[in-house]
Amino acid sequence: MDFKNIQIKPIAPALGAEIAGVDLFADLDDAVVAEIRRALLRYRVIFFRDQDFTPEQHLAFARKFGALVDYPMVSGLDGYPDIVPVVKLEDESHNFGGIWHSDTTYLAEPPMGAILAARELPPQGGDTMFANMVMAYDALSDGMKAMLEGLTAINSSAKGVVAKSREARQKGMNDVPDPLVAEHPVVRTHPETGEKILYVNIGHTVGIRGMADEESGPLLEFLFRHQRHDEFSCRFSWAPGSVAFWDNRSTQHYPLNDYHGFKRVMHRITLAGDVPV
Ligand code: SIN
Repeated sequence: MDFKNIQIKPIAPALGAEIAGVDLFADLDDAVVAEIRRALLRYRVIFFRDQDFTPEQHLAFARKFGALVDYPMVSGLDGYPDIVPVVKLEDESHNFGGIWHSDTTYLAEPPMGAILAARELPPQGGDTMFANMVMAYDALSDGMKAMLEGLTAINSSAKGVVAKSREARQKGMNDVPDPLVAEHPVVRTHPETGEKILYVNIGHTVGIRGMADEESGPLLEFLFRHQRHDEFSCRFSWAPGSVAFWDNRSTQHYPLNDYHGFKRVMHRITLAGDVPV
């Protein structure tokens, strides 16, 4: 048997699985933690339902999977700087990160993953889409794969839609350069599985090193459109107590903004990653 300690129900062919039979916030033994990590690598985003937990327990669970990192743009909760509130209020029209993206690829070491918990939800809507960027890479033609090999993407924190989406609660940026910019391979290799990943995203990627905008623009537009194919995606409907844990290296996500007039509050903890190669 593949998994002995947790039950797994995939939610879509491309990626995503609900995990049952585990109370995340009890004292998890090493075997369970190892299986959760294996499930994350296999399904790329895993979901847990009906979890009841405090911020301290959320932090303790996250620390079992790596070091925590600060999110540079928004302050953490009072008393819990490592837990970032992801909030849309009743009178707001933009939602935080409301475009397909992989988190903070404008950093030299983008996160390995994030653990997002639903705290307050609209009565309907507010689902999050996820997409598998290993599958997106594999589906490219051999000619396109050869062309992308060795290219370097430029990623910026200042790209319009994302910058707009966090404007309402952006913290003082005196301590960090604005915009933050980082260059990463267009095709990166997963540090744990060795898979190739299409590693540009419409949220943050602004160009390709050594190419004029007239050249990189159409290429990036093609890749962004390609990444959005339904067959690479899954969709998760949150309920109170739901938790999502995604591998930020091999996935992108897109929180749907279909609940104007209602409040949505999520708590996110981010896990340290490495330099993409
Ligand atoms: C995020 O991009 O971290 C937010 C995801 C969500 O609100 O569902």
